[in-house]
Amino acid sequence: MKIASAEYVRSAHGAGDFLRDGRPQVAFAGRSNVGKSSLLNRLLGRKALARTSSTPGRTRAVNYFLVNDRVWFVDLPGYGFAKAGKDERQRWAELVQGYLERSSEVVQVVLLVDAKVGATPLDAQAFGYLAGFGPPLTVVATKADKVVRGRRGAMVADIRRALGLPDPEAGGTVPVVPVSARTGDGVRELWRALDGRL
Ligand code: GTP
Ligand code: MG
Repeated sequence: MKIASAEYVRSAHGAGDFLRDGRPQVAFAGRSNVGKSSLLNRLLGRKALARTSSTPGRTRAVNYFLVNDRVWFVDLPGYGFAKAGKDERQRWAELVQGYLERSSEVVQVVLLVDAKVGATPLDAQAFGYLAGFGPPLTVVATKADKVVRGRRGAMVADIRRALGLPDPEAGGTVPVVPVSARTGDGVRELWRALDGRL
């Protein structure tokens, strides 16, 4: 998809604020600090549309970005924020669960995992949870710049295994796309995967 326009429109802090206007939505989920907001900026070709930070827990709300006046990109708050207390975790679960349950217009969920760290048990749990909602999933192995090229194939295979995804040859339909928001590597491949479902 060629980006003609991309703008931040609004944030939802609770169930009453979720946006539904008939346009399809693509939601970005993943561990806190994994690079969701950075990836969104890279996909949209904008440096600082979504706020990023080296401190986990930057994105606390559900943030809506309108792309080409046609589709919503939705930046979700990250899970697994180590310093988050029980209340914070509860709030995350309620917000993200609330979003998914009320968002029949979500046509695609992009789950980010850290290419260097691999898929953690928490990522596997999130994957299972998201898979239960219906919209197709795409997994992005982000920060791929931290993994040498020669290891990227094995890295993707490790992530597939940790998430319980069958190989594409064995009928697996969920793609795992290595991407670097820093260098732009893999962004074209990710667009191809997303475009096919938009
Ligand atoms: P929360 O909003 O806290 O959930 O975090 P987030 O998932 O939105 O992460 P964010 O995009 O704010 O990035 C977190 C940190 O990772 C920042 O310091 C980014 O510069 C860094 N980062 C993001 N993407 C990449 C990448 O592809 N490669 C490298 N090396 N660093 C990255
Ligand atoms: Mg963020």
